[in-house]
Amino acid sequence: MFTNTYGPWAVVAGASEGMGAQFASQLSARGLKVVLIARREQVLKELAATLSGEARCLALDLASPDAAARIADFTRELDVGLVVYNAALSPIGPFVEQSLENNLRAIDVNVKTPTALAHHFLPRLVKRGKGGLVLLSSLTAFQGSPYVSTYGATKSYNLSLAEGLWAELRGTGVDVLSVCAGATATPNLLKSVKQAPPGMQQPEEVVREALDALGRGPVLIPGRFNRFASFLMRRLLPRRSTIQIMAAQTRKLQLPP
Ligand SMILES: NC(=O)c1ccc[n+]([C@@H]2O[C@H](COP(=O)([O-])OP(=O)(O)OC[C@H]3O[C@@H](n4cnc5c(N)ncnc54)[C@H](OP(=O)(O)O)[C@@H]3O)[C@@H](O)[C@H]2O)c1
Repeated sequence: MFTNTYGPWAVVAGASEGMGAQFASQLSARGLKVVLIARREQVLKELAATLSGEARCLALDLASPDAAARIADFTRELDVGLVVYNAALSPIGPFVEQSLENNLRAIDVNVKTPTALAHHFLPRLVKRGKGGLVLLSSLTAFQGSPYVSTYGATKSYNLSLAEGLWAELRGTGVDVLSVCAGATATPNLLKSVKQAPPGMQQPEEVVREALDALGRGPVLIPGRFNRFASFLMRRLLPRRSTIQIMAAQTRKLQLPP
């Protein structure tokens, strides 16, 4: 059933480690062939060798303006049924101390390239009458997120884009899902935190929940703790307070003392 709807090929952008590698492994275990995309070719090849099914590797920088065109080219002959956009860049620290270049790069990786990929693949999926698009978002999407302000804004974009596309594509057989993850123990996150954030999930749990949620609505907040925290923050607290809570958490977990 899963393979029939979302196979035979899946594209995973940002596949070399953490959640991306988990998407690749779990999709392969569910019977899909996968296109693995990230910058580190050797790491992708090593991952491909561990998968049960066929995999092809494409090493590229998703910040580059021709990234989506190169992916389109690479997958021209493949019947792609599922696209997972996992990669993201998250500049951490006070906005005024960050380079503009890095902030704009985050917009390239987190906004421009997933939009271009959605624009390339969705018409093809609609034509097939089945398939899916998964955009990784974050709990930072639901309010301003101080010290990761640009990243948080890009994650709001991912959430909003997925919700809009979900509604536009209802009835076409194409599912769109935004995964608003909370803290997840990926190498990237573990490098950036001073202590384990509350409710931290393992990448395999988040990915399992995401794949199970495909086709069941536009938004997934994985993890019971995250769903509860998000309910409190969105429904019960004033928005100003939630922004301040985000600031305090990021200061405590990710900024130098
Ligand atoms: N981890 C968390 O706590 C957390 C929380 C909320 C939301 N999320 C979201 O979940 C997703 C994954 O999170 P993560 O950062 O923890 O990552 P991850 O899944 O551990 O890995 C990120 C992947 O993206 C690739 N990548 C990054 N920049 C790239 C670029 N410019 N070009 C090509 N590939 C690139 C990396 O590979 P290379 O280095 O080999 O290129 C890596 O494979 C992101 O969208 C993030 O916003 C994560």
